[in-house]
Amino acid sequence: MSVGPSVQTIVVPADEPGAIERVAGILKQGGIAAFPTETVYGLGADAFNADAVARVFAAKGRPGGKPLILHVSGPEMLAQVVADVPAAARVLIEAFWPGPLTLVLKKAAGVPAIVTAGGDSAAVRCPAHPVALALIRTVGRPLAAPSANRSGSPSPTTAGEVMEDLAGLIDAVLDGGPTGIGLESTVVDLNVCPPTVLRPGAVPVETLRRFLPDLRVPAERHEGAAGVAAPPGPRDLLRSTPRAQLILVEGREAGRVAAEVRHRAERYAAAGSRVAVLATAETAGAYDDLGPGVSVTVVGARRDLAGVGGALFRTLRAVDREGFDIILAEGFPEEGLGVAIMDRLRRAAGEVIDT
Ligand code: TXA
Ligand code: MG
Repeated sequence: MSVGPSVQTIVVPADEPGAIERVAGILKQGGIAAFPTETVYGLGADAFNADAVARVFAAKGRPGGKPLILHVSGPEMLAQVVADVPAAARVLIEAFWPGPLTLVLKKAAGVPAIVTAGGDSAAVRCPAHPVALALIRTVGRPLAAPSANRSGSPSPTTAGEVMEDLAGLIDAVLDGGPTGIGLESTVVDLNVCPPTVLRPGAVPVETLRRFLPDLRVPAERHEGAAGVAAPPGPRDLLRSTPRAQLILVEGREAGRVAAEVRHRAERYAAAGSRVAVLATAETAGAYDDLGPGVSVTVVGARRDLAGVGGALFRTLRAVDREGFDIILAEGFPEEGLGVAIMDRLRRAAGEVIDT
């Protein structure tokens, strides 16, 4: 595979005959290829090929020292990547795999240091996507894969978004259409006591607690905006700052949030900024008469957070492409998927306002 700064990136429709074998062949030869999962697109490499994994870091512009998730086709592949599967892991695997839950366990000796950033833990998950599963099975080895975006942009949920970031930098994109969930997996560290959520994600914490009652979620995640603090955890890894300045307006009451967004939109537009508002079906009416300086995009409905999660990154990218100066985003209640949605919005935000 080429290593130069510009390679020819092929887009392979997943339903084309021989598509999986073709992309698996690229990966087996040390190439790097994006593939769909049920959460977002991943950028995969053979986890045991350190040179290929190094190309993944380079293509993303991802700082070294940040570990990657190992994607397996099922529990039968675990022995290749982790040293031990403790009882708590067995319970979670039984309940959530294949699915958007990543477990941090002790790594197996054979996993190259670059995958785990030199640490002795390995993050592992089994994606619930037929194309991802078929690809891993055909390669016959775990795939080390971060989200398939350039470092600093939102995770991609379509092959087109992968190409927007990585065309010329990776060998192939296996196009399986838009991903369903649109938010990344929940990452749980089982090497610490009590088990701890490192990144909220597609599996809500409340759901995990049914199986892991002592699961710890760093308190800041539930504190609302007053703290304005950056989310704990590997923030720089996940930062999805759009080119526009994103201002997140939080608050318990949707009406007050909308009033504050409205007020700011008017003020910024009057000062000559091009302003986009990320609204919801329930609140969009509040911005009806804001005039031509303000564009309103509906990201979904408050009563359907799964829909909001599915559209969030796609909408952020689309709005950012339009070249606005300021994006005003409404906050969401931090329950269920709302925790992950707010985590991603806070990471993207340059400023957080509490109403
Ligand atoms: O849904 C997802 O998780 C997507 C799809 C492609 O699987 N992947 C993804 O990967 O979001 P990435 O690299 O963008 O985020 C991986 C997260 C980061 O927060 C990283 O710090 C954490 O998992 N992580 C990976 N390996 C780890 C390890 N050994 N110990 C602790 N955290 C780890
Ligand atoms: Mg990522």
